[in-house]
Amino acid sequence: MKTFKGSNRECLKASPLILEGFEIRTFRREDLDRVIEINTRCLPEHYSTFFYLDLYDRFPKTFLVAVVDNEIQGYIMCRIERGLSKLRALRLTRLCHVVSIAVMEAYRRRGIATALMLRAMRNAAVEYGATECFLEVRVSNEPALRLYNKLGFRKTRRIVGYYMDGEDAWEMARPIFEEDLMKGLK
Ligand code: COA
Repeated sequence: MKTFKGSNRECLKASPLILEGFEIRTFRREDLDRVIEINTRCLPEHYSTFFYLDLYDRFPKTFLVAVVDNEIQGYIMCRIERGLSKLRALRLTRLCHVVSIAVMEAYRRRGIATALMLRAMRNAAVEYGATECFLEVRVSNEPALRLYNKLGFRKTRRIVGYYMDGEDAWEMARPIFEEDLMKGLK
């Protein structure tokens, strides 16, 4: 498979993605309370209001929410970083770092996280020129590990004691392929 080289940018401009039963759109400031609520219910890692709004100000196209029945039920937020490739030795690249993703329990296993990830990776490539995506995940988080495996991520290293409670993380990464950019286009 080819990796993204910057073609087709115009036809790939971000627009709301409407899939069966839910819509993926970019975050708005008025979504903040609900996103914080989802984060608090779903994850042990919490953030300040400043942290959310700073990510939104800097990388608005990769801060996305999933709307079902007129209510936000999931979100993803990412940071675009310039640094060494996680997959290819000594290559400087632009990376999409998934900072947080969560879907409310009652809405899981409907493909919402998959859609959030694919859309965020696509926007990261089209809007910010990212060619690789990476994240950290608790070694015990089976659902998330399965999700990322299914999306083609591979473990790149184990980070000992990464989380506040001492648990290790797997760092996982994958290239962003040109094929990814066309997925879900209406
Ligand atoms: N058990 C086994 N596999 C699972 C799973 C589970 N509970 N949840 C997801 N998967 C795997 C499956 O392969 C699934 O495909 P399938 O349903 O066709 O079998 C695939 O991931 C895609 O699932 P999807 O429906 O897109 O994910 P989701 O919307 O249910 O959200 C999480 C997945 C991980 C985001 C969600 O469980 C969640 O919010 N967990 C709490 C927060 C969290 O752990 N975030 C990740 C931090 S790194």
